[in-house]
Parts: sequence; C-alpha cells; structure tokens
Amino acid sequence: MLFQGEVYEWRVSAAGRVNLIGEHIDYCGGKVLPVALSLCNTIYVRPNGGDKIRLRWTDLPHQVELDPDRLDEYENLPYGNYYAGRAKMFRQAGHRLVGCDMLSDCTVPFGAGLSSSAAIEVSTLAALSLAAGEDPAGLDRKELALLAQRAEREYAHVNCGIMDQYAAANGKKDHALLLDCAAVAHTDVPLILGEYTLVITNCNKPHRLVESKYNERRAETDEALRLLQQHLPVEHLAQVSPEQLEQYSAAWPEVIRRRARHVVAECGRVEQAAAALHGGDLAQFGRLLNASHRSLRELYEVTGKELDVLADAAQAVDGCLGSRMTGGGFGGSTVSLVRQDRVAAFEQQVAARYTEQTGYTPSFYTVQASDGICIER
Ligand code: GLA
Repeated sequence: MLFQGEVYEWRVSAAGRVNLIGEHIDYCGGKVLPVALSLCNTIYVRPNGGDKIRLRWTDLPHQVELDPDRLDEYENLPYGNYYAGRAKMFRQAGHRLVGCDMLSDCTVPFGAGLSSSAAIEVSTLAALSLAAGEDPAGLDRKELALLAQRAEREYAHVNCGIMDQYAAANGKKDHALLLDCAAVAHTDVPLILGEYTLVITNCNKPHRLVESKYNERRAETDEALRLLQQHLPVEHLAQVSPEQLEQYSAAWPEVIRRRARHVVAECGRVEQAAAALHGGDLAQFGRLLNASHRSLRELYEVTGKELDVLADAAQAVDGCLGSRMTGGGFGGSTVSLVRQDRVAAFEQQVAARYTEQTGYTPSFYTVQASDGICIER
C-alpha cells in the first residue's frame, strides 16, 4: 500500500522463504532446498536529491533519518539501526550511497521462521543500489545475499548460514533452489506438485532464546568437524559420509555425535529429495520430509513441543504426503505437502489437535514458489 499521493521511482521486493529440506545444513557446507515465497518485503525508493537516507514503514508511525557519513552512530537507534548497518556494508563493498527516501512494506509474518529478516535485508540492499543509479540488469544477486548475511551476523548477532538471504535474492517462480552452500551456487529444480500444494503452518508461539540455541548448534557441529579433521582432509561436515562418521565418532561425546549424525543423513535426504522432485515421485518426497523432522527432533533437538505436535498432526491427515519443521526451529513453522482438495480438512484437523494440545492457535498459508527479487520502475 502506498502512502497517498507519494510517487517513488522504484519498487523492489525480496522474498521470504520456506526450506523444503536440508535443515541446519547450510553452515555445514552442504546442499539445501529452499523455495522463495510470494510473501515478501517491498521497498518503494526514490533518490531525494539530498544526502540523507530517510526511512518509513507502512505499518509503523515512525520516520528515521540516517546520515551516510555517521553510519557508525546508529547502533542503538530503534528501527533504523539495521538499515544503517546494511547501508554501511553496502558502502564498504565499494558501492556509492546516495540520499534517498524508502518506504518499506512487509508481508512476511515476523517470527514465523520464514525469513522476514532476509527479505528486508536483501530488498534494502537492492533499493540502495537502485537509488544510486546502478543498473538493475547488473544486480549481483550472490553479492547481495552475502552482504545481507554479513548484516545478519554483525547486527542481529546470529551466526547464520547463507540459505535465507540467498533464497530471498535468487528464488525463481515455480522452482526450488538446490543450493550448494559451500560453493554459494545453485541449480533450479522445477517444483511440479500436480494436485498437491505446499501449506505452511505457523505455530504462533513467541520464540525465545532462538539465537543462543542456534549458535550452540553451530558450535556443536564445528566441534564435530574439528574431531573429524584429525582423521580426514575435509573442510565441511557435509563432506563426510555416514560410514566415515560411524568409523571415527565412537568415542565422541554423545551430543556431538547425534548432531553430526543428523547433518550427514540430512545431506543424503536432500539429494534424494531433489531426485524425487525431478522424477515426480511426491510420495517419496513426502517420506523424506517426515524423516527430516524425526531427525531434527531426535538427533538435532531443535523442534520443541509445538512443532512436534504440528508435524504429527499433519502427518496423520489423509491427503498429506509429508510434514516437517522448517527454518531454524524452536518455534516458527512447519511445511507440509497436501492434496489441494484436502487443504480445508487439513487446516481444520491440524488446528483442532494443535490447540487442544498446546493452547495456541496456528495460522496457515498455502504458498507458491515465486521469484526472489522483483523490480519495477
Ligand atoms: C536459520 C538460518 C539459516 C539456516 C536455518 C536452518 O533460518 O538463518 O541460515 O541455518 O536456520 O536450516
């Protein structure tokens, strides 16, 4: 929604994402299979002829003004701090910053595990580039994703992988991305679901301690890698086979072993899932989703009661081929593959069981694979 009477030069959006499979794999150097969503963050931007960056939001009464020469001073500025961080990174990477007005509008639900933050980061960086007169045809989507990831690490203090920002920038309509996180490169996988559709279910439980638990899992997988490097010339945990892991991990602390077992098995499931999509074997794809959830619950321990109840309830619905948590976990959403004529029954059955067992009311989104970045003049 535009503010009445206001004219902007560019409209740029970047997508939220849902990861189909390959969870907690990006920072282990493996492959993941995210899809960009039509839920997105849109920025309307125009150069303002001055030297300040002015920010507004469609859902907030605030206005913020940033001086590009004082970007270090905004670390505690409500609403503006992240934008200052992104602008600083944009300039550090050699881009020109110009005074501009930006109006931001986000349809990705916050805290749902659908990467609203990546959508905001990537669209902000793209908007700064357009305002500075850079050619939209030359927009380097990989660079934007890497800059956005740095912003998340340095400003939100989440030591995240590249998946969310990459999907927000590179998603393609009707496709999933088979993203190799070590190479930071992808191939598009056609997402042909026939009479099925993806349904996201948000557990609507406020997240707590997500960042610290996320960083803890990263440290545990780093430790597994360090132990394996005493025997194998590997750079990433994802390079290790299940057999190698069993061979060298017998004496490890049990927790570290469980985390590594999830990672190596999940990497195998990603390959199988991509093959199942290519071959149109949706039943097999659904079984892999279920197996992924089980592994995240039992080995990686990032699900929690709410996501477990949602996945169990979904998997029990006739017409649902598979369901799993998606994103970082500890709250957020599940993704399920549901026959289109069963979506209403799915929502009704899952909601009833979930509310009965947790007291929360879930939200549902039937979603399609969309382009990551969309630009219009
Ligand atoms: C969060 C992070 C991603 C990824 C997922 C788990 O969304 O931002 O980098 O690690 O969790 O797969």
